[in-house]
Amino acid sequence: MRIAILCILACLTSPDYSDFVSSFTPSPLTQKTRADFPAINTGTVYLDSAASSQKPSFVIDAQSEFDRTTHSNVHRGAHKMSREATRRYEDARSSLAEFINAGSRRELVFTSGATNSLNLIAHSWGIQNLEPGSEVILSIMEHHSSIVPWQLIQQNFCPGIKIKFCPLNSDNSDLDYDELEKMMNANTKVVSIVHTSNTLGITTDTKRIASIKARKAAADSIYIVDGCQSLPHKKVDVKDLNCDFFVASAHKMVGPTGVGLLWGKEGLLDAMPPFMGGGEMIDIVTTTGSTFAELPGKFEAGTPMIGQAIGWGAALKYLESIGGMEEIEKCENNIGTYLYESLQAIDGVTLYGPTNTSKRAALAAFSVENIHVSDIATFLDLEGVAVRAGHHCTQPLHDMLGISHTARASCYFYTTKEDVDIFVEKLKETIDFFRSQESGGADATGDGEGEIDYFA
Ligand code: ALA
Repeated sequence: MRIAILCILACLTSPDYSDFVSSFTPSPLTQKTRADFPAINTGTVYLDSAASSQKPSFVIDAQSEFDRTTHSNVHRGAHKMSREATRRYEDARSSLAEFINAGSRRELVFTSGATNSLNLIAHSWGIQNLEPGSEVILSIMEHHSSIVPWQLIQQNFCPGIKIKFCPLNSDNSDLDYDELEKMMNANTKVVSIVHTSNTLGITTDTKRIASIKARKAAADSIYIVDGCQSLPHKKVDVKDLNCDFFVASAHKMVGPTGVGLLWGKEGLLDAMPPFMGGGEMIDIVTTTGSTFAELPGKFEAGTPMIGQAIGWGAALKYLESIGGMEEIEKCENNIGTYLYESLQAIDGVTLYGPTNTSKRAALAAFSVENIHVSDIATFLDLEGVAVRAGHHCTQPLHDMLGISHTARASCYFYTTKEDVDIFVEKLKETIDFFRSQESGGADATGDGEGEIDYFA
């Protein structure tokens, strides 16, 4: 019934933007690249790039060209196609190692995604190094994939460890670094803190975290950086970050799904046992035991994600060819500020995270007074606007904020001013529609009662 009413709703409002918004100048990078992305040139206003970015034809074609001409298994074929597949797969590794300034290709492990990388660290490093009393420090804005692996370690292998969550500062605009310092002690063995939050858009100061850890934590502690929302958007140099491990996924940076990276300092990776056993990761297997391959093969059991890794290599080439990460960051700051300030001007919208737009990633999580976010996302979807609604895999953060869900609009360098304008228009229409309804028209409580929870 509600859907039917939504469908017949006409335009009700017009924009009323701030000074920045009215003087906005589109970035030449967006104008230059927009046509490269077939899926967003079919009518959808795509504002869900933080969940998964779109791919340019260059990447789609590179992956499909590999499948059409060269596909075969790597590292084990005596034939020409396998040698060529191996060369391309290992070239992708070299490109990625260079892209993040890894010390060597040995430090770059291909995984099935950042979640897999984080589970690998928790199981391989964690089980070997944690003992009763050891402490794992996370931040309250971590993605579930940085939280749950440590909880599994605690439940299944090391019940005596303690998992602690560092809070944010009083206006939720940054990590509370003073509190982080107070939380660390000689029992702190793991510090795992997101680089850029997928919900609040906060970017953490990795050097400051590393320096606190060096002063306060155990000498053999590790610092893990989840770079899923930073690597696609800015220049990342893993040495400069001052961390021990860095993880990210290809599909948020114009690459394919199903492939991610684990970067770790070589000494640490060398000392860690394999996470999964199988083909590729061994040296010699006998009936009484096995020895393992050198890095990075030790952590790449089974047939790897060959075509996807090659597609990721193409994605890196594409990102460099359009001007590189510094240009992308500038462009996103422009459109991200436009998005934030446009939303800020709408009555009843609450935005989360830093108010200083130069400190935000180009995404905005928000709620609207008395309107459930699934209603907002459903209405926007009917109008051809794709946003995410839910807890964004950050339930502890939402609990801390005192809300169960938020809606989130997220941009990439291909996001245009028109995308944001249409989104804002349609959002205002949605709000006006619900405001005009009598109380029985919608579940306006935000408690999800009577709603389908598509977004858990
Ligand atoms: N974790 C991804 C997001 O933020 C899927 O949407």
